[in-house]
Amino acid sequence: MVGEDVSAVHPFIAHAPGELTAAFVVPLVSLAYLFTVDWRLTLITLVPVALAVAMVPLMMTPARLREQEEFDAAMGRIASSVVEFVQGIAVVKVFGGGERAHRAFRTAVGDFVSSFYRMVRGLSGIAAGVQLALSPPFVLLVVLIGGAVLVTSGGMAPADLLPFLLLGLGLTAPVAALGHGFDDLQAARRAAGRIAEVAAVPALPEPARPVAPRGHRVELRDVRFGYDEGHEVLRGIDVVLEPGTVTAVVGPSGSGKSTLVQLLPRFFDPTHGSVRLGGVDLRELDGRQLYATVSFVFQDVRLLRASVADNIALAVPDAGLDDVVRAARQANIHDRILELPRGYDTVLGADATFSGGEAQRISIARALLADTPVLVLDEATAFADPQTERAVRHALATPAGDRTVLVIAHRLETVADADTVVVLEDGAVVERGSPAELLARDGRFAAFWQSCLKRDDHANATGDSNAPLQVSR
Ligand SMILES: Nc1ncnc2c1ncn2[C@@H]1O[C@H](COP(=O)(O)OP(=O)(O)OP(=O)(O)O)[C@@H](O)[C@H]1O
Ligand SMILES: [Mg+2]
Repeated sequence: MVGEDVSAVHPFIAHAPGELTAAFVVPLVSLAYLFTVDWRLTLITLVPVALAVAMVPLMMTPARLREQEEFDAAMGRIASSVVEFVQGIAVVKVFGGGERAHRAFRTAVGDFVSSFYRMVRGLSGIAAGVQLALSPPFVLLVVLIGGAVLVTSGGMAPADLLPFLLLGLGLTAPVAALGHGFDDLQAARRAAGRIAEVAAVPALPEPARPVAPRGHRVELRDVRFGYDEGHEVLRGIDVVLEPGTVTAVVGPSGSGKSTLVQLLPRFFDPTHGSVRLGGVDLRELDGRQLYATVSFVFQDVRLLRASVADNIALAVPDAGLDDVVRAARQANIHDRILELPRGYDTVLGADATFSGGEAQRISIARALLADTPVLVLDEATAFADPQTERAVRHALATPAGDRTVLVIAHRLETVADADTVVVLEDGAVVERGSPAELLARDGRFAAFWQSCLKRDDHANATGDSNAPLQVSR
């Protein structure tokens, strides 16, 4: 929509007013003049235009419009199947199944071809008729025949035929321009409809009178949430994060850990219950206040196409280089940055590309520099290399002070340092307590712990310290 639909609307807004003005002024002036020469021949000269205009509504019947909508939809399906196919190339290459991956694309192309044929078949006869009526030979023919009749009947001087032959041709131009403009208009209208649909999705409402939080204790009270109607991902969560403590969330893949922590920066509002910061429901907080209080390290890190220093200083744009370097050191990424061709001025994505673990360390540095009282960290399984792990521990340990920390942990080391552990399963809290308490209880957490130990043993035995963790139910 951003690409195709916006460009479909563009010519109509940017060019149409000028083109239409030019297309109408010249013929209207000619027409007025021709009327003063001979009104009967002027009317005859307009016959081809009238014919063409009469045919235009045939292009707008419901059947024709439906064909055009199908054509647009088929074009959209090609675009998305291309994107899917390209994104999946690596997977297809490794695991085979090229045939099957191609099939979706081929089906989309086949659909497109047949809907294109349907549309063209419906339109081509009418379009040819319109073009014929407006073509110069036809217009000349009509003017000559009409003129000949008038001249021979003695109602008109032969010389008066000349302006009609010269200017008559120009009268058809605006109709032809309208025909093209009409296609554009239809396409633009359909595109504008789709853009409006997106624009109509309501933004999360900001409070009219924001309330200031008192302190930075975070409470989740009976929080329920689902991405889709009828499927709850979080089913009644009650958790309190005390300032000065680290709370670790563990649980099987898909249990709702990332969803849970994304409620804190208010990416979604819970469908039931509330998330409170310093006693205030997030829905009553000013957005800027919220982001000045909560910083985030995501599971899949996105870096900006900007210098390393700017990436780290995102939340604190006027931070000095000293501060940036200190944060980078704490996040264990400083040495790596110095290896880059232009150090902290290296532009990411242009001069250098970071690995997943390096990118996550940059985003940890970003959070450390932001130094907000609440820190949420979604530890990425895939990038759990020893250096990133050290960076995570730094982030959690550094200014423990009275910072409120929530971390989604996949690694034993991270969990062991936590004050409280919350075990999530199927969107509900099944165990909570200190790591020692939970180990003694010999339940879910103890099983998680055992599986981590086994994995680490295995990793040590094979010399692979990056073996990904499989949390089994
Ligand atoms: N954007 C989304 N739209 C729809 N469903 C989603 C979305 N994100 C997650 N889900 C679903 O919500 C459930 C919980 O996902 P979530 O990402 O919170 O799990 P997780 O515990 O973080 O897993 P992991 O350990 O693999 O990161 C899953 O069933 C997932 O399919
Ligand atoms: Mg997750």
